[in-house]
Amino acid sequence: MRRGVVAGVGFTVPDRVLTNDDLSALVDTTDEWIVQRTGIKERRIAGPEDTASTLGTDAARKALAAAGMAPEELQMIVCGTVTGDMAFPSTACFIHEALGIAPIPAYDVGAACAGFIYALANANAMIATGVVDNALVIGVDVLTKYVDWTDRSTCVLFGDGAGAVVLKASETGDRGLVKTVLLADGGGAKHISYESGGSRYPFGEPQSQGRRLKVYMNGAEVYRFAVVAMGDACCRVIELAGLEPKDIQLFVPHQANLRIIRAAQERLGLPDERVFVNVEKYGNTSGASIPIGLAEAEQTGRLTKGDLVLTVGFGAGLVWGANLIRW
Ligand code: ACO
Repeated sequence: MRRGVVAGVGFTVPDRVLTNDDLSALVDTTDEWIVQRTGIKERRIAGPEDTASTLGTDAARKALAAAGMAPEELQMIVCGTVTGDMAFPSTACFIHEALGIAPIPAYDVGAACAGFIYALANANAMIATGVVDNALVIGVDVLTKYVDWTDRSTCVLFGDGAGAVVLKASETGDRGLVKTVLLADGGGAKHISYESGGSRYPFGEPQSQGRRLKVYMNGAEVYRFAVVAMGDACCRVIELAGLEPKDIQLFVPHQANLRIIRAAQERLGLPDERVFVNVEKYGNTSGASIPIGLAEAEQTGRLTKGDLVLTVGFGAGLVWGANLIRW
């Protein structure tokens, strides 16, 4: 069976570190509260010159180098982001321009913190159906440019970064993306949003003022949803593959909150050494968190060829999904 196999992975984060103590000088919070409720100790903050496309291009170049591929060999680019350089053109087009290559398909997928899950599944489908033989898949977000830095319930959660993988077609079916589960429930759109700048609340119009100019989140609702959705998507994708949780070598969940990760881990019955966690260093990097996790896991020797890797994400939409990958 023809599938997309991960040939290379890379990531990048901005240099600037913002610790919990730094945050407690900005809003009424403490390191103790943030660590206890989220597991986050620090996060990376984009500088004025960092954008989704600059971070995404850097991660992409690292993934291409790891795959031993020249940018000119790429056949498509899919970018999971909700904090792109501009409303349009797509961030994938800016990354295409930065790579300096001939025209190929390039587009964004908007699925918030599940952006990389959706983008990878999409690229794999394009490979499986023979449209392309390889794809660059990027997950990038720069949410710190969208959060309300006076709202302690959201500004402590997010950080910036980008991760990328190169998928290459394989006809043997022994490695690659094994199964996917993608879900969305628009009824939950009200729980997390950034309302301004779209056609409903255009910039410059009176109705775009107030909270619509910042990330809005009902944390408790999103938390309740995430605990159930992460576990459900994981169980479903494992079952679709005819496997069991004990077959998973490494679980790389979206890094939003350590308590949400531990709840999913518990449902799967996985020991700590099979669960990848880096939320303490980067916070919630939205669409970037899973490819950053995959890249760090590989760099630290926690992922080897043939391992069964379970990835799962959830986010604004509400959207959620899981990809089971034979590394
Ligand atoms: N420091 C101190 N106190 C705080 C802070 C803070 N940074 N933030 C909120 N609080 C206070 C609130 O004001 C509230 O006080 P009150 O009870 O006096 O009103 C209290 O803490 C809330 O406490 P809890 O409800 O116990 O907080 P909870 O344990 O639910 O944790 C959190 C809040 C961390 C936001 C949690 O709900 C969460 O992680 N939700 C999920 C968020 C998420 O994962 N989003 C991902 C999607 S993002 C995307 O798609 C782009």
